[in-house]
Amino acid sequence: MTPQHDTVAAFDEERLAGIIDLYIRTGIQVLSPGYMGRQFSGVVPLAGVIDFVSSMVSQPASFYEAGQLPNAVERVMAEELNRFIGYAPGRFTMVTTSGGSLANLTALLAARNEKLPGYWSQGASAVRGQPRPAIAVGADVHYSVARAAGVLGIGDAQLVRLPLNGRQQIDAAGARAALAAAERHNLRVFCLVASAGSTSVGAFDPLDDLADLAAEKDLWLHVDGAHGASLLVSDALRGKLRGIERADSLTWDAHKMMFVPAPCTMLFYRNRETALSAFRQKASYVFDEEQDIYTAFDSGGKNFECTKRPMIMTLWALWAIYGRSLFAEKIEYLCRLTGEAHAILRDDPDFATPHRPEANILCFRYHPAGFGGKPGKRLDGKALHRLQVAIRNRVKSAGNFFISKVDIDGVAALRVVMMNHRITTEHFRMLLSEIKRAGQDLIASDEGPGKA
Ligand SMILES: Cc1ncc(COP(=O)(O)O)c(C=O)c1O
Repeated sequence: MTPQHDTVAAFDEERLAGIIDLYIRTGIQVLSPGYMGRQFSGVVPLAGVIDFVSSMVSQPASFYEAGQLPNAVERVMAEELNRFIGYAPGRFTMVTTSGGSLANLTALLAARNEKLPGYWSQGASAVRGQPRPAIAVGADVHYSVARAAGVLGIGDAQLVRLPLNGRQQIDAAGARAALAAAERHNLRVFCLVASAGSTSVGAFDPLDDLADLAAEKDLWLHVDGAHGASLLVSDALRGKLRGIERADSLTWDAHKMMFVPAPCTMLFYRNRETALSAFRQKASYVFDEEQDIYTAFDSGGKNFECTKRPMIMTLWALWAIYGRSLFAEKIEYLCRLTGEAHAILRDDPDFATPHRPEANILCFRYHPAGFGGKPGKRLDGKALHRLQVAIRNRVKSAGNFFISKVDIDGVAALRVVMMNHRITTEHFRMLLSEIKRAGQDLIASDEGPGKA
């Protein structure tokens, strides 16, 4: 008997056009100069073409037998980019993961396995009776690190938050004191996480100083460079990551400042053996006991995913076709633009800038004098906070610009991230005009910040 079901619908061109149109029109417009709100790349179109090919050939990248080119190319890109990191050739390794959050989790897993032997198989009972394992992080660390602590059975309450200086970077002297206090509270810090480009303001922690501290205390040093590691490819900006070659591991998102479609994340390890210790499974259907020259290319032993997108292909294609300068020029332009935007704000008495940008993330507040008709009076505290949030909402719903917000010292600030080389200072000035109009209107209206 033939099964009963509907017949396959005839191809409907209009329906397809409707789907594509709806997809393109809704959500963020990463290629528009009005998009300044998040860290997803304004994608280089050629990378989109390669991504389409990846979808069609569908060669998962964890195993060489399925994805020969992606597995070989992971090695090529690892060598290429390591020229700017500086790990010892032949000792380091790199693996791609589906996003920076997963890379952070994987690195912390490797750190835990290295520093707390027995935890992988025995769980927390491996450290029963000993000081509680803990991870030290900058107070502004990305939330994925706190999540990782929960997932790894360390517990997010065992995060030791290190103090920041006025530039929102980890304060090395304060970190030393915080680690000593943690020891007194019966914590065993085994890993220190630094940021190279924090999410909120793009701050770069002092890696050399933190590497000294890590060496002294026998800590694994992980650098979350999801946002800022890409600055390494620029001769002018690489200095922001001075000391990176001393980190045990480094997260690097190419879908942020390398302008390829998401996800495309690389996790570098200084020492190849520790990468392999992150996961320890026997699975005879994929992991051969005896490696041959082909299985040695597999990345499956180093990443959590079994089926993994061949994400490196987009990055490699751009690198192979245009070379490093494509990336360096775009990154340098975006950082320069952000500096110019900061200067525009500083010259305008209606705005306050709580930080000086180090890369392409800039936070500021609309903070005019003369509030409530009183010359010189400025909003503060909750009212100032509410005003920024209301402005962000207005700007977003008007649809000309997409910006975000972040709380700095408990008060909201408007946040722009320059991810697209089509943005100019003129676009930024247009944004500021719109912010001023929205701000003045809100202050005068019932939705005003003092009236909520
Ligand atoms: C510093 C930092 N780390 C980690 C992440 C998470 O990366 P992903 O979104 O690729 O998971 C982000 C994302 O914005 C980030 O800014």
